[in-house]
Amino acid sequence: MKVFAILNRKGGTGKTTTAVNLAAALAIKGKKTLLIDADPQANASLSVGVLATKGMHSLGKLLLQEIKIRETIYPTYHENLKVIPSIENLAKLDPILINTPNSETLIKRALEDVEKEYEYVIIDCPPYVGIINLSVLFASQNVIIPLRNDFLSLEGLAQVTNVIDRVSSKINADLKIGGVLITMYDDRDKIIDVGRFSSLLFPTAIRYDRILSEAPKYGKPIFGYAENSPGAEDYRKFADEFLARFP
Ligand SMILES: Nc1ncnc2c1ncn2[C@@H]1O[C@H](COP(=O)(O)OP(=O)(O)OP(=O)(O)O)[C@@H](O)[C@H]1O
Ligand SMILES: [Mg+2]
Repeated sequence: MKVFAILNRKGGTGKTTTAVNLAAALAIKGKKTLLIDADPQANASLSVGVLATKGMHSLGKLLLQEIKIRETIYPTYHENLKVIPSIENLAKLDPILINTPNSETLIKRALEDVEKEYEYVIIDCPPYVGIINLSVLFASQNVIIPLRNDFLSLEGLAQVTNVIDRVSSKINADLKIGGVLITMYDDRDKIIDVGRFSSLLFPTAIRYDRILSEAPKYGKPIFGYAENSPGAEDYRKFADEFLARFP
């Protein structure tokens, strides 16, 4: 089982869009995939048709150790893609987790129970760093950083790599930056210079495609909604590159 955090310190860089469409593309290619929605905004859950409501078994309840991981896993439109809905009440959860010893190990330990059932785990992260993201990074081997193709993104990149460096030196030596993905790309523009991360850039950049922002309204990844759109084409190519890098 390979675990990936989709992370950036900046908001609105395409984290959720990437988590959802990467997870769906992997599922379509026959990989047993688990999408975990770790953002209380619950956009990823919604984007695969799972409305995270109060009564649901969510990542929040898992972190509170009220339930086992299997109870939090919901089916989606595709048989190979399952989802753990997000946290419904972060304000309540955060202070509890801060006072729970080793709370950063909870996601990793929970995933051990389903290790044999999923090949890829894709985790959509919120943009801020808190106890939830620490727990996600503790459970992950690789971070994929979606980056908008503009100059100000470079500062976000520097911030997120600082976080990853800190986590890998303190709590998870296995954690690496697995790749940087340019999103919302206009093909009239040059790709920004990501300096020492250029070897980690995925060759495909995700073009700006309005349809990518429409699909969630129908609870579908881009593939179940507009198979032949530029967004679908780009995420399919990216998923091939991802699988070549992480077979
Ligand atoms: N390639 C794209 N083309 C057009 N719109 C996009 C593209 N990628 C994402 N979007 C839209 O941009 C907005 C932000 O994207 P998304 O929600 O994936 O970012 P995020 O990094 O998860 O944001 P947040 O930090 O709030 O969690 C959304 O409305 C999304 O539909
Ligand atoms: Mg998001």
